[in-house]
Amino acid sequence: MTPLSLARSLTRSFVKAMPWCILVHHHLAQGGCGWLELSATSPCLRRSGARLRRGKCTEMGSNPTGTATAQKTPASAGAFFIAEGDAVVLQDVVMETALAAVATRPGAAHLVTRVEPVLLPPRAPGSVRLRMLAAPINPSDLITIAGTYSRTVFPFRPGFEGVGEVVEADGDAGLRLGSRVVPVRSAGSWSSVRDVAVGDCIAVPADIPLDQAATSFVNPLTAITAVEQFVTDRRPVVVTAASSTIADHFAALLAEVGAPAVGVVRSSRSRVRRPELWSAIVPSDAEDWRIRLGSAAADAQVVFDAVGGDHAAVVMETLARAKLLVSYGLLSGEPIDTTRLRPRVALRFLHLRALVHDGDPTLLRRRFDRAFALIRGGVLHTDIASTVPLCDITTALEHGGRGGGKTLLRVSGPTVRCSRGR
Ligand SMILES: NC(=O)c1ccc[n+]([C@@H]2O[C@H](COP(=O)([O-])OP(=O)(O)OC[C@H]3O[C@@H](n4cnc5c(N)ncnc54)[C@H](OP(=O)(O)O)[C@@H]3O)[C@@H](O)[C@H]2O)c1
Repeated sequence: MTPLSLARSLTRSFVKAMPWCILVHHHLAQGGCGWLELSATSPCLRRSGARLRRGKCTEMGSNPTGTATAQKTPASAGAFFIAEGDAVVLQDVVMETALAAVATRPGAAHLVTRVEPVLLPPRAPGSVRLRMLAAPINPSDLITIAGTYSRTVFPFRPGFEGVGEVVEADGDAGLRLGSRVVPVRSAGSWSSVRDVAVGDCIAVPADIPLDQAATSFVNPLTAITAVEQFVTDRRPVVVTAASSTIADHFAALLAEVGAPAVGVVRSSRSRVRRPELWSAIVPSDAEDWRIRLGSAAADAQVVFDAVGGDHAAVVMETLARAKLLVSYGLLSGEPIDTTRLRPRVALRFLHLRALVHDGDPTLLRRRFDRAFALIRGGVLHTDIASTVPLCDITTALEHGGRGGGKTLLRVSGPTVRCSRGR
């Protein structure tokens, strides 16, 4: 067996047996196949300052703590098992390892997403290395993993939102080591470590709590933009899927500008987060819901809709004076039936992606500043239903998002290390 074919067969059998381990093919200088199973807290790593050097690690067989083992077989290819946070030297290049959620193919997120160890190439100049701290699971992540957008390339590293700590940056990056930033413009935040262009990092003020920093981007910026752009007077504004996190933001922002918020929820069991922010809540499973909506929002001109399908069309039919339907989500999975919209109704689509990718970067920062100020003042708040280690992502994806707030992934740190078999 050649060294390469040995390495390949090792990869196949070990990845099958221990999918939580990383496998690095490596031709050992002295010959011999090293299989190293290491823990980031092992004395070897502590001694070498979290930089795992091949020479030291072959000594790991005698590690008294039992956290690491090394074996040698007579061959010239190697396979290394490395845990999150370790680093390996591969052909003299130091590569850190990280854990990342990977959606292997389009589909239901809990079925196609798993956590894998990945190797990080050295950080490129102009980018910042972030140790991700926390990241929420949002509907936009699930929709993307489902394969809704043809632009998504699989395997795909999800996580459009999150907060990370700067662990490595160029001297002139303007970001302090240890400071927290929110990366924008790309997915990948369900990873323990990721590299992001310095221009795509938004610095987070130190007084913003971690969970609110992790959720300060997707919903706050969309709601702030929508209200700034489309609410021009103090007439009632209708918000569908009023039990969602972003709907709570809408209600809070509408209160700020003095426009009453009228919410529609899909069921009498659906709960809005802060009922005091709403002038009326109408459950659409009630027989008389259209009459109730019509009277609560008789004067409404604007509807913010995240449901789509028939529901959006029926809401617009119910509101005789409504002139503007702002569509920013399709929770029903169905597009809006535009044939049912009155000719004088304008339909506008609002996509955070477009604001972030094509919009003015100064405006983006200004809106972030506003979001942080509103979070600080308690005007915007995201309820967190549960905080789950990255390695429990399958459970989080299967059972999360059932009301009560967001599921937050704790993406790095000692409690995140995956155990065997996950
Ligand atoms: N366009 C953009 O850039 C942008 C940005 C941010 C958010 N969004 C969209 O905004 C929507 C809400 O996001 P979020 O993070 O606030 O969600 P969230 O906090 O996870 O809440 C979603 C809630 O919506 C309700 N819901 C689910 N399906 C529904 C349906 N078919 N009809 C009515 N209500 C339904 C559920 O509440 P109950 O079970 O209690 O009814 C669910 O808890 C999503 O569609 C998301 O994609 C879009």
